[in-house]
Amino acid sequence: MTIPANSSGTALVAGGAGFLGSYLCERLIAEGWRVICVDNLHTGTLENLDDLSRESRFSLIEADITKPLPDRLHVDRIYNLACPVSPPHYQADPVHTLLTNVPGMRNLLELARTSEARILQTSTSEVYGDPAQHPQTEAYWGNVNPTGVRACYDEGKRAAETLCFDYKRRHGVSVRVARVFNTYGPRMRPDDGRIVSNLVVQAMAICGKPLTIYGSGEQTRSFCYVTDLIEGLSRLIALDQEIDMPVNLGNPEEFSINELAALVSAMTGSTSEVN
Ligand SMILES: NC(=O)c1ccc[n+]([C@@H]2O[C@H](COP(=O)([O-])OP(=O)(O)OC[C@H]3O[C@@H](n4cnc5c(N)ncnc54)[C@H](O)[C@@H]3O)[C@@H](O)[C@H]2O)c1
Repeated sequence: MTIPANSSGTALVAGGAGFLGSYLCERLIAEGWRVICVDNLHTGTLENLDDLSRESRFSLIEADITKPLPDRLHVDRIYNLACPVSPPHYQADPVHTLLTNVPGMRNLLELARTSEARILQTSTSEVYGDPAQHPQTEAYWGNVNPTGVRACYDEGKRAAETLCFDYKRRHGVSVRVARVFNTYGPRMRPDDGRIVSNLVVQAMAICGKPLTIYGSGEQTRSFCYVTDLIEGLSRLIALDQEIDMPVNLGNPEEFSINELAALVSAMTGSTSEVN
């Protein structure tokens, strides 16, 4: 594979073979960028890149961001989406998840520094942990258990944010941090393990499995459609004004889990019961 050296209009997308990353790569190609996707294919798939593989401006480097990146890379924009997002996947190897978030982030920030590239980090609403404030604004510092089973993800993402803003202060790197809220759409993995894909998979099972709802179902969440989220990421990185804090990105409206289950049932024509 040829790595474009000293090119202009080159975007690197770490985690580009994943759910959100593959949409972002498609959008960047449509905008005329040359796109280098760096992915270890842990939760991402080549199938997600099917349409892109025919594009001459698209290339895939199968690599892990915890390891040093190829020497000759020089890029204009960097997007970091590399990190498993669903709990069963990020908890399968928690140490690697933490390393992806911290040394992995550092490798990309170093590339941003040496390339003088703008970098966008996809952080998460999980940095608010078990929040004592609703809804969470960016000014809220969160309530996170540093030793729990989710810490490799949420504390990892918090440390990645710290690295981003330290690189900005110390090295003048132009960083954008998006705190992404729950996002859904085609290409989510059926084994994602989170509520939207669980309900859809259950409703679409032959003979319809009962839809599992934990608790009363009155608890609310926000769900953002994938292309809306990609629009948000694109606008955030395009802003020329420097932004000294993370930005929440998601659907501002909340829905109850009962409402979601009813919608999934109606849209799939499912006869599943709700448990
Ligand atoms: N989807 C959501 O609802 C959501 C919510 C909040 C935050 N996010 C963030 O958005 C980003 C993308 O999420 P997604 O839903 O596309 O997840 P995903 O699991 O589908 O994609 C992650 C991609 O990163 C790759 N990857 C993981 N570790 C890597 C490593 N060490 N080196 C190279 N590649 C690696 C995976 O193979 C995969 O292609 C993640 O950083 C996630 O934390 C997503």
